[in-house]
Amino acid sequence: MAPRQLVLPMFVAEGLDEPAPLNSMPGVVQHSIDSLLRAAGQAVEVGVGGLMLFGVPTPAHKDAVGSAGVDPAGVLNRAISAVVAEVGDATVVMSDLCLDEFTDHGHCGLLSPDGSVDNDATLKRYAEMAVAQAAAGVHMVGPSGMMDGQVGVVRKALDSAGHLDVAVLAYAAKYASAFYAPFREAVASSLEGDRRTYQQDPANRREALREVRLDLAEGADVVMVKPALGYLDVLSDVAAVSDVPVAAYSVSGEYAMVEAAAAAGYLDRRVAVLETLTSIRRAGADVILTYWAAEAADWLTSESR
Ligand code: PBG
Repeated sequence: MAPRQLVLPMFVAEGLDEPAPLNSMPGVVQHSIDSLLRAAGQAVEVGVGGLMLFGVPTPAHKDAVGSAGVDPAGVLNRAISAVVAEVGDATVVMSDLCLDEFTDHGHCGLLSPDGSVDNDATLKRYAEMAVAQAAAGVHMVGPSGMMDGQVGVVRKALDSAGHLDVAVLAYAAKYASAFYAPFREAVASSLEGDRRTYQQDPANRREALREVRLDLAEGADVVMVKPALGYLDVLSDVAAVSDVPVAAYSVSGEYAMVEAAAAAGYLDRRVAVLETLTSIRRAGADVILTYWAAEAADWLTSESR
Protein backbone atom coordinates (compact mmCIF):
# COMPACT_ATOMS: atom_id res chain seq x y z
CA MET A 1 0.00 0.00 0.00
CA ALA A 2 1.35 3.39 -1.02
CA PRO A 3 0.26 6.88 0.11
CA ARG A 4 -0.84 7.74 -3.43
CA GLN A 5 -3.47 4.99 -3.22
CA LEU A 6 -5.22 6.80 -0.37
CA VAL A 7 -7.89 9.43 -0.95
CA LEU A 8 -9.02 11.77 1.82
CA PRO A 9 -12.75 12.61 2.06
CA MET A 10 -13.20 16.19 3.35
CA PHE A 11 -16.25 18.16 4.46
CA VAL A 12 -16.63 21.87 3.85
CA ALA A 13 -19.50 23.72 5.49
CA GLU A 14 -20.95 27.01 4.44
CA GLY A 15 -20.68 29.92 6.85
CA LEU A 16 -17.98 28.55 9.17
CA ASP A 17 -15.15 30.79 10.37
CA GLU A 18 -13.25 27.91 11.90
CA PRO A 19 -13.42 24.11 11.65
CA ALA A 20 -16.21 22.38 13.60
CA PRO A 21 -15.35 19.00 15.16
CA LEU A 22 -17.69 16.06 14.61
CA ASN A 23 -18.92 14.14 17.67
CA SER A 24 -19.11 10.75 16.09
CA MET A 25 -15.85 11.06 14.14
CA PRO A 26 -13.14 12.29 16.50
CA GLY A 27 -10.34 13.91 14.50
CA VAL A 28 -12.59 14.73 11.52
CA VAL A 29 -14.07 18.20 11.09
CA GLN A 30 -16.38 20.25 8.97
CA HIS A 31 -13.99 22.72 7.38
CA SER A 32 -14.26 26.39 6.60
CA ILE A 33 -12.80 27.22 3.19
CA ASP A 34 -9.59 28.44 4.88
CA SER A 35 -9.10 25.36 7.02
CA LEU A 36 -10.00 23.16 4.04
CA LEU A 37 -7.17 24.67 2.03
CA ARG A 38 -4.70 24.23 4.87
CA ALA A 39 -5.69 20.59 5.43
CA ALA A 40 -5.66 19.90 1.69
CA GLY A 41 -2.11 21.25 1.49
CA GLN A 42 -1.01 19.07 4.41
CA ALA A 43 -2.60 15.95 2.92
CA VAL A 44 -0.91 16.55 -0.41
CA GLU A 45 2.39 17.12 1.37
CA VAL A 46 2.30 13.62 2.90
CA GLY A 47 1.50 12.14 -0.50
CA VAL A 48 -2.19 11.24 -0.63
CA GLY A 49 -3.41 10.47 -4.13
CA GLY A 50 -6.57 12.54 -4.03
CA LEU A 51 -9.14 14.53 -2.09
CA MET A 52 -12.89 13.84 -2.19
CA LEU A 53 -14.90 16.96 -1.33
CA PHE A 54 -18.36 17.03 0.25
CA GLY A 55 -20.28 20.30 0.67
CA VAL A 56 -22.56 21.18 3.56
CA PRO A 57 -24.85 24.14 2.76
CA THR A 58 -26.61 26.13 5.47
CA PRO A 59 -30.21 24.91 6.09
CA ALA A 60 -31.47 28.05 4.33
CA HIS A 61 -29.76 26.89 1.15
CA LYS A 62 -31.39 23.46 1.08
CA ASP A 63 -34.51 22.95 -1.02
CA ALA A 64 -36.51 20.11 -2.55
CA VAL A 65 -34.44 20.01 -5.75
CA GLY A 66 -30.95 20.61 -4.34
CA SER A 67 -30.41 23.94 -6.13
CA ALA A 68 -27.25 24.78 -4.19
CA GLY A 69 -25.53 21.75 -5.72
CA VAL A 70 -25.89 23.21 -9.20
CA ASP A 71 -25.32 26.87 -8.29
CA PRO A 72 -21.74 27.95 -9.12
CA ALA A 73 -21.84 29.94 -5.86
CA GLY A 74 -22.91 26.86 -3.86
CA VAL A 75 -20.55 25.78 -1.10
CA LEU A 76 -19.21 22.70 -2.87
CA ASN A 77 -18.59 24.39 -6.20
CA ARG A 78 -16.78 27.25 -4.47
CA ALA A 79 -14.68 24.79 -2.48
CA ILE A 80 -13.75 22.88 -5.65
CA SER A 81 -12.42 26.05 -7.30
CA ALA A 82 -10.47 27.02 -4.20
CA VAL A 83 -8.92 23.56 -3.72
CA VAL A 84 -8.05 23.21 -7.40
CA ALA A 85 -6.33 26.60 -7.30
CA GLU A 86 -4.41 25.59 -4.17
CA VAL A 87 -3.33 21.98 -4.86
CA GLY A 88 -4.84 21.08 -8.24
CA ASP A 89 -1.47 20.60 -9.89
CA ALA A 90 -0.30 18.22 -7.18
CA THR A 91 -3.24 15.88 -6.59
CA VAL A 92 -6.53 14.62 -8.00
CA VAL A 93 -9.43 16.78 -6.83
CA MET A 94 -12.70 14.83 -6.65
CA SER A 95 -16.22 15.86 -5.70
CA ASP A 96 -19.28 14.08 -4.44
CA LEU A 97 -21.96 14.24 -7.10
CA CYS A 98 -25.17 13.70 -5.16
CA LEU A 99 -28.13 15.74 -4.01
CA ASP A 100 -28.51 14.51 -0.44
CA GLU A 101 -26.43 17.27 1.14
CA PHE A 102 -28.44 19.87 -0.76
CA THR A 103 -32.03 18.64 -0.44
CA ASP A 104 -34.27 19.61 2.48
CA HIS A 105 -35.66 16.05 2.56
CA GLY A 106 -32.17 14.54 2.55
CA HIS A 107 -32.70 12.04 -0.26
CA CYS A 108 -30.12 11.56 -2.99
CA GLY A 109 -32.65 12.43 -5.66
CA LEU A 110 -35.76 14.40 -6.52
CA LEU A 111 -39.05 13.16 -5.09
CA SER A 112 -42.23 12.22 -6.96
CA PRO A 113 -45.55 13.54 -5.59
CA ASP A 114 -45.99 10.24 -3.72
CA GLY A 115 -42.68 10.77 -1.88
CA SER A 116 -40.69 8.12 -3.73
CA VAL A 117 -37.38 9.00 -5.40
CA ASP A 118 -37.81 9.79 -9.09
CA ASN A 119 -34.84 8.11 -10.80
CA ASP A 120 -35.07 9.76 -14.20
CA ALA A 121 -35.82 13.29 -13.01
CA THR A 122 -32.80 12.94 -10.74
CA LEU A 123 -30.56 12.00 -13.66
CA LYS A 124 -31.20 15.37 -15.32
CA ARG A 125 -30.16 17.12 -12.13
CA TYR A 126 -26.98 15.02 -11.84
CA ALA A 127 -26.08 16.00 -15.41
CA GLU A 128 -26.34 19.70 -14.49
CA MET A 129 -24.42 19.16 -11.29
CA ALA A 130 -21.61 17.35 -13.11
CA VAL A 131 -21.22 20.24 -15.54
CA ALA A 132 -21.24 22.76 -12.67
CA GLN A 133 -18.52 20.82 -10.83
CA ALA A 134 -16.46 20.48 -14.00
CA ALA A 135 -16.83 24.22 -14.64
CA ALA A 136 -15.49 24.76 -11.11
CA GLY A 137 -12.42 22.78 -12.17
CA VAL A 138 -12.85 19.36 -10.61
CA HIS A 139 -10.76 16.52 -12.04
CA MET A 140 -13.03 13.61 -11.17
CA VAL A 141 -16.70 13.46 -10.19
CA GLY A 142 -18.08 10.81 -7.86
CA PRO A 143 -21.75 10.07 -8.58
CA SER A 144 -22.84 8.45 -5.31
CA GLY A 145 -26.64 8.50 -5.47
CA MET A 146 -27.17 5.01 -6.92
CA MET A 147 -29.68 6.13 -9.55
CA ASP A 148 -29.87 3.74 -12.48
CA GLY A 149 -28.08 5.18 -15.50
CA GLN A 150 -26.24 7.90 -13.58
CA VAL A 151 -22.78 7.17 -14.97
CA GLY A 152 -23.91 7.27 -18.60
CA VAL A 153 -25.84 10.51 -18.14
CA VAL A 154 -22.97 12.20 -16.34
CA ARG A 155 -20.41 11.07 -18.95
CA LYS A 156 -22.59 12.36 -21.78
CA ALA A 157 -23.24 15.69 -20.07
CA LEU A 158 -19.55 16.23 -19.39
CA ASP A 159 -18.61 15.40 -22.97
CA SER A 160 -21.31 17.63 -24.47
CA ALA A 161 -20.09 20.53 -22.35
CA GLY A 162 -16.52 20.00 -23.52
CA HIS A 163 -15.24 18.49 -20.27
CA LEU A 164 -13.72 15.48 -21.99
CA ASP A 165 -10.93 15.13 -19.45
CA VAL A 166 -13.09 15.04 -16.33
CA ALA A 167 -13.15 11.45 -15.10
CA VAL A 168 -15.95 9.51 -13.40
CA LEU A 169 -15.45 7.60 -10.17
CA ALA A 170 -18.59 5.46 -10.05
CA TYR A 171 -20.05 4.41 -6.72
CA ALA A 172 -20.98 1.17 -8.42
CA ALA A 173 -21.79 -1.20 -5.57
CA LYS A 174 -23.06 0.94 -2.75
CA TYR A 175 -24.99 -0.89 -0.07
CA ALA A 176 -27.72 0.50 2.20
CA SER A 177 -25.55 0.46 5.31
CA ALA A 178 -25.88 1.36 8.97
CA PHE A 179 -22.21 2.32 8.81
CA TYR A 180 -22.98 5.66 7.13
CA ALA A 181 -24.55 7.04 10.31
CA PRO A 182 -21.63 9.25 11.42
CA PHE A 183 -21.39 10.68 7.88
CA ARG A 184 -24.97 11.86 8.17
CA GLU A 185 -23.90 13.97 11.16
CA ALA A 186 -20.92 15.20 9.16
CA VAL A 187 -23.10 16.53 6.35
CA ALA A 188 -25.94 17.60 8.68
CA SER A 189 -28.26 15.32 6.73
CA SER A 190 -31.98 16.04 6.74
CA LEU A 191 -32.86 12.43 5.93
CA GLU A 192 -35.69 10.67 7.69
CA GLY A 193 -36.12 7.04 6.78
CA ASP A 194 -33.57 5.18 4.70
CA ARG A 195 -32.20 4.72 1.21
CA ARG A 196 -33.17 1.10 0.71
CA THR A 197 -35.10 1.79 -2.50
CA TYR A 198 -31.94 2.90 -4.32
CA GLN A 199 -28.95 1.47 -2.43
CA GLN A 200 -28.19 -2.24 -2.47
CA ASP A 201 -29.34 -4.98 -0.13
CA PRO A 202 -26.44 -6.03 2.15
CA ALA A 203 -27.43 -9.66 1.71
CA ASN A 204 -26.98 -9.58 -2.07
CA ARG A 205 -23.48 -10.32 -3.33
CA ARG A 206 -24.18 -11.06 -6.99
CA GLU A 207 -26.04 -7.84 -7.72
CA ALA A 208 -22.81 -5.90 -7.13
CA LEU A 209 -21.32 -7.41 -10.27
CA ARG A 210 -24.35 -6.43 -12.31
CA GLU A 211 -24.05 -2.85 -11.02
CA VAL A 212 -20.33 -2.78 -11.83
CA ARG A 213 -20.82 -4.12 -15.38
CA LEU A 214 -23.49 -1.51 -16.07
CA ASP A 215 -21.23 1.30 -14.81
CA LEU A 216 -18.30 0.02 -16.89
CA ALA A 217 -20.50 -0.07 -19.99
CA GLU A 218 -21.65 3.49 -19.24
CA GLY A 219 -18.06 4.75 -19.14
CA ALA A 220 -16.87 4.62 -15.53
CA ASP A 221 -13.14 5.34 -15.14
CA VAL A 222 -12.98 3.84 -11.64
CA VAL A 223 -15.58 1.62 -9.95
CA MET A 224 -16.09 1.68 -6.21
CA VAL A 225 -17.41 -0.66 -3.54
CA LYS A 226 -18.86 0.85 -0.37
CA PRO A 227 -18.66 0.24 2.56
CA ALA A 228 -15.32 -1.58 2.53
CA LEU A 229 -14.77 -3.63 5.66
CA GLY A 230 -17.98 -5.65 5.73
CA TYR A 231 -17.87 -6.08 1.94
CA LEU A 232 -14.41 -7.46 1.24
CA ASP A 233 -15.93 -10.43 -0.61
CA VAL A 234 -17.73 -8.03 -2.92
CA LEU A 235 -14.55 -6.03 -3.40
CA SER A 236 -12.65 -9.14 -4.33
CA ASP A 237 -15.36 -10.17 -6.83
CA VAL A 238 -15.32 -6.72 -8.40
CA ALA A 239 -11.52 -6.62 -8.62
CA ALA A 240 -11.63 -9.92 -10.51
CA VAL A 241 -13.88 -8.59 -13.28
CA SER A 242 -13.09 -4.89 -13.55
CA ASP A 243 -10.89 -3.63 -16.35
CA VAL A 244 -10.56 -0.21 -14.69
CA PRO A 245 -9.08 0.56 -11.26
CA VAL A 246 -11.19 -0.45 -8.28
CA ALA A 247 -11.77 1.80 -5.28
CA ALA A 248 -13.21 1.01 -1.87
CA TYR A 249 -14.71 3.51 0.56
CA SER A 250 -13.89 2.79 4.17
CA VAL A 251 -16.87 4.67 5.53
CA SER A 252 -17.56 6.83 8.54
CA GLY A 253 -18.84 3.97 10.72
CA GLU A 254 -15.67 1.95 10.10
CA TYR A 255 -13.64 4.96 11.18
CA ALA A 256 -15.83 5.58 14.23
CA MET A 257 -15.63 1.96 15.41
CA VAL A 258 -11.85 1.85 15.43
CA GLU A 259 -11.53 5.33 16.92
CA ALA A 260 -13.98 4.54 19.73
CA ALA A 261 -12.29 1.26 20.57
CA ALA A 262 -8.85 2.85 20.46
CA ALA A 263 -9.98 5.76 22.65
CA ALA A 264 -11.25 3.24 25.20
CA GLY A 265 -7.87 1.52 25.16
CA TYR A 266 -9.19 -1.66 23.57
CA LEU A 267 -7.04 -1.48 20.43
CA ASP A 268 -3.62 -0.29 19.37
CA ARG A 269 -4.85 2.49 17.12
CA ARG A 270 -2.03 2.71 14.61
CA VAL A 271 -1.72 -1.04 14.13
CA ALA A 272 -5.49 -1.43 13.84
CA VAL A 273 -5.78 1.37 11.27
CA LEU A 274 -2.98 0.01 9.10
CA GLU A 275 -4.34 -3.53 9.36
CA THR A 276 -7.80 -2.28 8.34
CA LEU A 277 -6.42 -0.49 5.28
CA THR A 278 -4.15 -3.39 4.39
CA SER A 279 -7.07 -5.81 4.43
CA ILE A 280 -9.01 -3.59 2.04
CA ARG A 281 -5.99 -3.36 -0.23
CA ARG A 282 -5.46 -7.14 -0.04
CA ALA A 283 -9.08 -7.78 -1.07
CA GLY A 284 -8.43 -5.90 -4.31
CA ALA A 285 -8.71 -2.13 -3.86
CA ASP A 286 -6.33 -0.05 -5.97
CA VAL A 287 -7.62 3.10 -4.29
CA ILE A 288 -8.99 3.52 -0.75
CA LEU A 289 -11.12 6.43 0.39
CA THR A 290 -10.46 6.76 4.11
CA TYR A 291 -10.66 9.43 6.80
CA TRP A 292 -7.23 8.16 7.92
CA ALA A 293 -5.69 8.93 4.49
CA ALA A 294 -3.36 11.74 5.55
CA GLU A 295 -2.27 10.13 8.81
CA ALA A 296 -1.77 6.71 7.22
CA ALA A 297 0.15 8.23 4.31
CA ASP A 298 2.46 9.85 6.82
CA TRP A 299 2.96 6.55 8.67
CA LEU A 300 3.63 4.66 5.44
CA THR A 301 6.20 7.22 4.39
CA SER A 302 8.02 7.20 7.70
CA GLU A 303 8.02 3.37 7.81
CA SER A 304 9.71 3.15 4.44
CA ARG A 305 12.41 5.66 5.37
C1 PBG B 1 -24.15 10.16 -0.36
C2 PBG B 1 -22.99 9.62 0.39
C3 PBG B 1 -23.02 8.96 1.63
C4 PBG B 1 -21.69 8.66 1.96
C5 PBG B 1 -20.90 9.13 0.92
N1 PBG B 1 -21.73 9.71 -0.04
C6 PBG B 1 -24.12 8.71 2.57
C7 PBG B 1 -25.30 7.92 2.23
O1 PBG B 1 -25.39 7.24 1.20
O2 PBG B 1 -26.21 7.99 3.04
C8 PBG B 1 -21.24 7.94 3.20
C9 PBG B 1 -19.80 8.04 3.51
C10 PBG B 1 -19.44 7.60 4.88
O3 PBG B 1 -20.26 7.05 5.65
O4 PBG B 1 -18.27 7.79 5.23
N2 PBG B 1 -23.87 11.44 -0.88
